[in-house]
Amino acid sequence: MMTSISEKASNQQIEKHIQKNISLATYNTFRFDYRAEFFAIAESVESLKAMLVWAQHNKHAVTMIGGGSNLLITGYVPGLVIINRLSGINIAESQGNQIYLTAAAGENWHQLVSYTVQQGLFGIENLALIPGTVGAAPVQNIGAYGVEAKDVISRVQVIDCENREVRWLEAKDCGFAYRDSHFKGKWKERFIIVAVEFELKKQAELLLSYGGLANQIHGEPSLVGVFETVCAVRSEKLPSPENLANAGSFFKNPIIDESEHAQLKTRFPDLVSFPFEGRYKLAAGWLIDQAGWKGKNHQGVGVYEKQALVLVNHSETSAKPLLELEEQIKKTVFDRYGVLLEREPVELPTISSEAS
Ligand code: EPU
Repeated sequence: MMTSISEKASNQQIEKHIQKNISLATYNTFRFDYRAEFFAIAESVESLKAMLVWAQHNKHAVTMIGGGSNLLITGYVPGLVIINRLSGINIAESQGNQIYLTAAAGENWHQLVSYTVQQGLFGIENLALIPGTVGAAPVQNIGAYGVEAKDVISRVQVIDCENREVRWLEAKDCGFAYRDSHFKGKWKERFIIVAVEFELKKQAELLLSYGGLANQIHGEPSLVGVFETVCAVRSEKLPSPENLANAGSFFKNPIIDESEHAQLKTRFPDLVSFPFEGRYKLAAGWLIDQAGWKGKNHQGVGVYEKQALVLVNHSETSAKPLLELEEQIKKTVFDRYGVLLEREPVELPTISSEAS
């Protein structure tokens, strides 16, 4: 693509906002200390577009980071790293039960959930206290307590890197699946998420069936009650990244066929599993826990003592020990159950594994 005169002017403008050789330690919740070749913070769609023009003009790859809470950085990150700080929440007028809410990608996810609950809107209350930003929700199709982001996302607004136009993508086209979407796969290089539109409801059934939520609620279930209970349960089971560096579940819950499930269940009658879209989803936390890993440490990293699916970083600046721990866990689980664990957090493209 040619660079126009106005783009040249914008390149000079934006250059002032681009820093060199910046540590990403405070931009990933694992707190691994690797550097970005170039670094900028985008607070508006216009500045984000100008950054993309600059990167394209200078032939630099672009990596977007939101809250950095589902991210694994294992080395020096070449090219331009942009922190997405786009802000704003807008509720569209509506007559019926549905309400469309648009939130900019850089908004904090939990604050959005909290806001919708205050407004009496149903749909994302079960997703309270998930770390990260709104823009990361579709990438990962975040989920908890029987609800996934895909259940409430109607459209995703993106910048198309091919022509830098802003456009809306319909949820049905986004390839949403368990902890997966096209934004993680074939669209990774092409689209940058700038906003997400949610279809929420003024009145709806509460979803309490998952993970014993119903038993934890005191009194008559309500929207606020579910929100508060999810917050309490998560705080009890999962480490807050502010207190202990982590990226939530480090592995996906494996999905296996009925026949494989039947064989495993015979060998391990206590196996924790759930029927899932005609197959079975295994609790990876249970597999790792049963294999003896819960609470175990390897150098300065370890398996969280209350939830074996979460790997934590106590003191390391390098990701090397974590990658070693990951391999060891995968090997033990595979040897014992014949199940291959898959990593959940997204790994950034890097070129060297030395911490800064
Ligand atoms: N379990 C153990 N030991 C453990 C952990 C779990 O035995 O150390 C067993 C328990 O029997 C438990 C079952 O595994 O009943 C499932 O555990 P839990 O309900 O804690 O959920 P999970 O499958 O471990 C998933 C999500 C979480 C989400 C919770 C609640 C994935 C990869 N993880 O965890 O999401 O909060 O359900 O809905 O799907 C995340 O993605 O970062 C995340 C935290």
